[in-house]
Amino acid sequence: MKNIIEVRDVKTIFDERIVHNGLNLTVKEGEIYGLLGPSGCGKTTLLREMVMLQKINSGSIKVLDYELNHIKNEEAQQLRQKWGVLFQSGALFSSLKLKENIALPLVEYTNLSKAMINEIVEYKISIVGLKSEDANLYPSQISGGMKKKAALARSLAMDPKLLFLDEPTSGLDPISAREFDALILKLRDILGLTIVMVSHDLQSIYDTLDSVAIIDNKKIVYEGSLGNIKSVKNEFIQTFFGKYNE
Ligand SMILES: Nc1ncnc2c1ncn2[C@@H]1O[C@H](COP(=O)(O)OP(=O)(O)O)[C@@H](O)[C@H]1O
Ligand SMILES: [Mg+2]
Repeated sequence: MKNIIEVRDVKTIFDERIVHNGLNLTVKEGEIYGLLGPSGCGKTTLLREMVMLQKINSGSIKVLDYELNHIKNEEAQQLRQKWGVLFQSGALFSSLKLKENIALPLVEYTNLSKAMINEIVEYKISIVGLKSEDANLYPSQISGGMKKKAALARSLAMDPKLLFLDEPTSGLDPISAREFDALILKLRDILGLTIVMVSHDLQSIYDTLDSVAIIDNKKIVYEGSLGNIKSVKNEFIQTFFGKYNE
């Protein structure tokens, strides 16, 4: 499988604090790839670096064959349309109906007619498992699980091939969280997505991830499948995964 993301020797420093010191990882086409590690280890920062919201201090990140260090403005604009992002804080606009929220990227980035946009929005609403009548509701009128689905529909508006999710199941009740996991797996298969997901939800990790990278002490301490992760000699891994009985 093709490499979709290559992170090489990435160093990130905030003021004088080193967050990443020589990170390396590779995300392959079609996989659901997890970024894991203790709180504050730099998972969200790495996601932000992958989507060009944050600069790295040294090293390189290649996404969909674009080297982010050397990307031209025009290419950057095109590249931004090839991925969808669902950040923890990526809330819906409360003054807009769900359908208007989901239409936003299409209104902003395309010249599609209103009728065409409506049709696309209807399709996105149905693939995330919302009902068409939900489209006219405002964010304050729906549950947390529905909000996540609507935000996901918005991140899929432009038909991305790559999706970034930051702790998508945090704050959801267990049933909604498992429903969201199933949705992610289904969408990966039917839309052919590659997904990079930050998570600390063990059930979600075991149910959805094909590969993981564990960040600890500024480095990747493990990259690979979950199969034999419990045999890795690392305190975070032992504490975190020790709790889970397969
Ligand atoms: N814009 C910023 N300026 C200064 N420090 C930051 C900034 N963003 C993140 N940090 C710091 O970098 C570290 C990693 O943060 P973050 O990536 O949010 O961690 P995680 O998502 O793994 O919990 C934290 O110590 C955080 O305080
Ligand atoms: Mg975070």
